[in-house]
Amino acid sequence: MAEQHLAVVILAAGQGTRMKSALPKVLHRIGGRSLIAHVLDAAAGLDPAQVVAVVRHERDRVSAAILEHAPDTVIVDQDEVPGTGRAVELALAALPDDFDGSVVVLSGDAPLIDTATLEGLVKGHLGGGRAMTLLSAVFDNPTGLGRILRDDSGAVLGIVEEKDADDEQRRITEINGGIYVFSRRALQTALASIDTNNAQGEKYLTDAAARILVTGGDVEAVATDDPWTIAGVNDRAQLAEAGRELNARIVRGHQRAGVTIQDPTSTWIDADVSIEPDVEILPGTFLHGATSIATGAVVGPDTTLVDCEVGPDARIRRSEATLAVFSAGVSVGPFAYIRPGTELGAGGKIGAFVETKNAKIGDGSKVPHLSYVGDAVIGSDSNIGAGSIFANYDGVQKHQARVGDGVRVGSKNVLIAPVTIEDGTYTAAGTVVRKDVPSGSLAMNVAPQRNIAGWVAENRPGTSTAEAAQRAAERGE
Ligand code: UD1
Ligand code: CA
Repeated sequence: MAEQHLAVVILAAGQGTRMKSALPKVLHRIGGRSLIAHVLDAAAGLDPAQVVAVVRHERDRVSAAILEHAPDTVIVDQDEVPGTGRAVELALAALPDDFDGSVVVLSGDAPLIDTATLEGLVKGHLGGGRAMTLLSAVFDNPTGLGRILRDDSGAVLGIVEEKDADDEQRRITEINGGIYVFSRRALQTALASIDTNNAQGEKYLTDAAARILVTGGDVEAVATDDPWTIAGVNDRAQLAEAGRELNARIVRGHQRAGVTIQDPTSTWIDADVSIEPDVEILPGTFLHGATSIATGAVVGPDTTLVDCEVGPDARIRRSEATLAVFSAGVSVGPFAYIRPGTELGAGGKIGAFVETKNAKIGDGSKVPHLSYVGDAVIGSDSNIGAGSIFANYDGVQKHQARVGDGVRVGSKNVLIAPVTIEDGTYTAAGTVVRKDVPSGSLAMNVAPQRNIAGWVAENRPGTSTAEAAQRAAERGE
């Protein structure tokens, strides 16, 4: 049941100049999601009646990304009047006229805000009967941020932006975190009376504090003890810092849920990854997208999984895989390159220096060494010999190779697709399999070997090979 008395406004109209990027700032990613997607998720956790996002810079790209992640979001375009106050004013106009609940205001570029913090802020706001509650923080270096003005008794007097502050105000270390709860009516009235007479020529949302106080409303700034919740991303350095902190939080969450993660600093886990208890993640591992890992699996070291499903007790080491399904008890790597559409059945193996793509490999089947398996269906309990290649491409089209159950493909085979090797067959080492192999047979096409006596002495006189042959002859071999 949606919280009928709550709306959320997310500000995302700004340009993000300091990112120096063709990509709009709020679409940069940490933890596998855009900055704005993290904020949308925190907002959705409140179950609000409505979420409004304000856009302007690159509005088509930004609004498309917002709607893809949260289709019910109402998109509002900011006009030429600049400033956070103007952005919120236009967002309020998109709410139903009779909505007179609370409005939470968030920044699209502050991705570490979480639902629990917002719930606490809203609870305090409603409990205190206030018109405005904001999240503040005390920073050793408050440069660039709005400062909270208080009187001698500690009551909030207003917010002053750094560019408008005098020297004394700049020494204030309590800053405005840019995360607020307002009463809709009080905010709307305040915004109507705010002008752009300030250092930046903008309509400041922060001016609402003093306006609300003048008309008798209560305003409180609640200092957070977790400054990361308000950390904004303005440049690439802050993007990396926010990403590292998010990762640390995700890793800690998995550890608390029973996952062994040996080295949190070299392990990167996206927000959407799910991991069961008693999984072990070794250093240098990257888990991306919708990857899931079942209990008992050991992943790493130095492994990257993108959108993979890893079954219980699987062992994956020093490998890279995308869109692959690994069943229970498989063994993968070291140095396997697993491309989309690979499915490895229970107890199967993809070993060292093996590349696979669009390959269904049945239960207990093994591709142990130095092979390429593409566009293939392999049954159960089959073995693909070292150095074998599935030649799936004729230069124009891709074709499929089929290998049945209980097949022994010899070393260094080339399977020229389309071709089928039926159940219960052998192929000899070095076979180029161009024709289907019927069940129960041995396929071979090796030419008989000829040894031409004396060839080295005749054709390579004076070489080290000829000298070795000479010594062997002298020993009587
Ligand atoms: C704002 C606050 C400042 C606070 C800081 C915290 C104001 C006037 N100042 O400053 O007190 O310490 O956040 O990070 O609010 N945006 C729009 N439309 C606009 C301008 C901005 O949607 O016209 C959006 C931006 O895209 C961004 C957010 O509002 O997501 C904050 O804007 P930004 O310009 O970064 O504000 P700050 O100067 O950081
Ligand atoms: Ca900012």
